[in-house]
Order: sequence, then C-alpha cells, then structure tokens
Amino acid sequence: MAESAEIILDGKSYSFPVIEGTEHEKAIDIAKLRDQTGYITIDSGYKNTGATKSAITFLDGEEGILRYRGYPIEQLAEQSSFLEVAYLLIYGTLPTQAELDEFSNQITKHTLVHEDVRKIFDGFPSAAHPMAILSSLICALTAFYPESVSPDLSKENIDLNVIRLMAKLPTIAAWTYKNNMGHPLNYPRNDLDYAANFLYMMFSFPTEKYEINPVVVRAINKLLILHADHEQNCSTSTVRLVGSANASLYGSVSAGINALWGPLHGGANQEVVEMLEAIQRDGGDTSKFIAKAKDKNDPFRLMGFGHRVYKNFDPRAKIIKKAADEVLTALGISDPLLKIAQELEQAALTDPYFVERKLYPNVDFYSGIIYKAIGIPTEMFTVMFALGRLPGWIAQWKEMRENKEPIGRPRQVYTGELDRDYTPIEQR
Ligand code: SDX
Repeated sequence: MAESAEIILDGKSYSFPVIEGTEHEKAIDIAKLRDQTGYITIDSGYKNTGATKSAITFLDGEEGILRYRGYPIEQLAEQSSFLEVAYLLIYGTLPTQAELDEFSNQITKHTLVHEDVRKIFDGFPSAAHPMAILSSLICALTAFYPESVSPDLSKENIDLNVIRLMAKLPTIAAWTYKNNMGHPLNYPRNDLDYAANFLYMMFSFPTEKYEINPVVVRAINKLLILHADHEQNCSTSTVRLVGSANASLYGSVSAGINALWGPLHGGANQEVVEMLEAIQRDGGDTSKFIAKAKDKNDPFRLMGFGHRVYKNFDPRAKIIKKAADEVLTALGISDPLLKIAQELEQAALTDPYFVERKLYPNVDFYSGIIYKAIGIPTEMFTVMFALGRLPGWIAQWKEMRENKEPIGRPRQVYTGELDRDYTPIEQR
C-alpha cells in the first residue's frame, strides 16, 4: 500500500499521508492540503470523499457486503431481534441476556410521551404527511428535554436520551398514522415487545381486539434490522453534521428524518409502490416503463433501482425479496404488485442500460410489498424506514460526539460576481 500520496501543483511537490482501515479501505488524508498548497478539493455529492472514520458499519458495494460491528447482515436478519441489533450498533457489542433485558425494560419504561405532545398533533392538518409530523415531533422533544442541548453530555445523559428516543419514536410514529386516519390514539403496552407494541399501537381499535401475528412481528423485526444502519448515507451524514454543532440528539435525528424523506433516499419505498400501482393501472406493461426510465428526456426513474455504493447487488434487497414471498404466502395474500416488481427486476437485469450503469434493486424495491401486506399504508413506508434507521443514526451521532469530531463546515469554490459597488435603485 502506498505510504503517502504526492501531488504536484505549480511545479511544486507535496506529500500527504495515506490511511488504511481495518477492511483495507485506503484514503489520502488531506487535512493540511489548503494550509500547504492553498488548494482545496471539490467532489459534488461527496462520491469520492470520506467524511469520517467509523467503527459501526462496513459495506462493500462491489461485493455486496454489509456488516454491523462486523456481523453479517444475513446472520443478524435471520437470528437476531431489532432491539438486540440496536444495542449492538449503539454500544458496539452484542448484549448479554441481562444487558438486553435492561435495555428493553428501560425502553418500555419510556414509551409514553408527554400529554402536551398530543396537543401538537391537533395543530396538524389531518392530511399532513406522517414524515412531516414525525420530524416535527421528534424535534419538539428538545423542548421537553432541554438538558439534551449540551456540549458536555455525560454518559448518563447520552444514555437517557438514547433510551427516550428509541422508546418514543415508535409511539409518535404510530400516532402519526392514527392521526392521519382520524382514529383514536393507542397508548403503548408494557406487556408487548418492541415490534408487537408498535403493531398494537398502529392497528388496535377500541371496538375490536388486534390479534398480533407472529409472522408479521418476525417480518417487522427483519425489516427494521435491515434498515438499521448504512454507514454515511445522506440522512446519517445529515445527523452527524447537525450533531457536530452540539445540537441535541433529537434535533439531529429530526434533520435526518427530513433527509430520509427525500424520494431519492428513503422516500423511494413509497415511490416504488406508487410506481408499481401506476404500471398496474396502465395495464401492467413493464417494458413501457423500462423504456421511460432509459429515456433521457423523461424524468421518470425506476424507483427502487440503483445505489450510490452498491454496484453489484444490495444484500438487503435479496433478503427482503425472499421475505416478501414468505410473508405473502404465510398471510395467504397474492399481490399483483409483487409479480410486476419481479417482472421489472428480470427485465432490468438483462437490459444493457441498467447493466452498464450497474443498476440493481436496492433496499426500497421490495420492502413496500411487505408493508402493504401487513396493512401499513404507503404514506407510512418512509416512517417505517425511519423507525429502522433510528439506532444507526443514534450510533453514528454518539460516535461523532464521543470522538469529539469538529463542527462540519465544508469549503467551496466561488463562481459568482467579482467586486462591484452598490447602485441606488433609481439607477438600476
Ligand atoms: C437509499 O446511501 C445509502 O446507503 C442509501 C440507502 C440507505 O440505506 O441509507 O441505501 C437507502 O436511499 C436507497 C436508494 C433509494 N433511491 C431510489 O431507489 C431512487 C432511484 N435511484 C436513483 O435515483 C439513484 O440510483 C440513486 C439516487 C440511488 C443513486 O444516484 P447516483 O449514485 O448519484 O447515480 P446517478 O444519479 O449519477 O446515476 C448514474 C446513471 C445516470 O445515467 P447517466 O447520466 O450515466 O446516463 O444511472 C442512471 C442515471 O440517470 N440512473 C437511473 C436510475 N438510477 C440511476 N436510471 C433509471 N432509473 C434509476 N433508478
């Protein structure tokens, strides 16, 4: 491996150190570039730029590898639970039974939200998108816990904020759905585990008992595990950047929720199902939509396809595709959208346009099929993504704060007007 990188600028040679990660990823450390050369780098979308060193998640886009703290996602999805994976991401090790019980009990104790939060709900129009409500109410937690805005957070304070957020986001998420449907809100139950409690708060009615189906609980755990972290994606980088200003965990995660809502990021899972429904309404001709996706004059993209990092396959998509088959079979559901999705995938995987650009199904392509089978409405799909990604956002925020990383403040290359004098309006 090269020990350093040499850059020659204006006839002068400069040397910069090379660093190597535990998985042999290499980077040129340009921390002193501007001081030594007067130059900066520019990399729109940070496609070639590392923002940090992290020990949380490793992914290899070429090989389709994804590991949380070294554990392969395939093993965690099949053998672990979402709370166990959340503990692993946040604290760095798989918990003992006693540690997991304590973590779970602490979360159970904090699932209620302040009654004044309900009053904030009343201020939203009933048609408000659940992600708008979720990001607002998660940020509002800073008002209920002002001590969370502090530069010198103690371990106890950070841990309490972690527990509060893990506990209250599912309650608020379920309430956004109930608010959207005009249904009475369900309060959390202490006798149910994390996924079952969320399903109960989502679907229970005063007039009829909601039967918790273990197949659905298992599917929710698997989906939340698969969404739990993904190193420096758009929303996680947002959480880190906001948190680097010593903003509270709640305010940082609220910013991440807004980034995730973007249709190019987590909002894609809602767009995928809406795309599949549009293809179904149009008669199911997938080739027509493949052609649209390839047409540069058509803004249409095959939602759920492509990824900034995975240029082979998204390992999560393979697991979710298999889970979609299993859940629909177990629930006795035949969803024509699944067949359209499978046809789209097959068509794209043999089409040179997609093959040349290495566009494969990503995590969002099949997840909506399962959410729909469970009865979760399309507008709640990205809320489900946020529920899953929460421990990843927390872990990354915590790592950034514990490593005392500096406030994020990128540079720019100015391309605007040169120096000029102000002219009074009558002279313009
Ligand atoms: C997530 O970062 C993460 O890890 C994100 C995520 C996570 O867990 O946090 O994995 C979750 O966000 C998954 C991605 C969900 N988004 C979508 O499914 C939306 C559809 N896909 C894209 O818009 C796109 O593929 C991105 C945004 C995912 C990646 O965009 P890039 O890396 O910036 O690639 P690009 O836009 O520069 O595209 C490269 C080429 C272009 O064609 P050319 O200009 O070379 O001719 O591929 C084309 C694009 O037009 N292209 C597509 C396409 N995606 C890329 N063409 C048709 N359909 C698509 N879906």
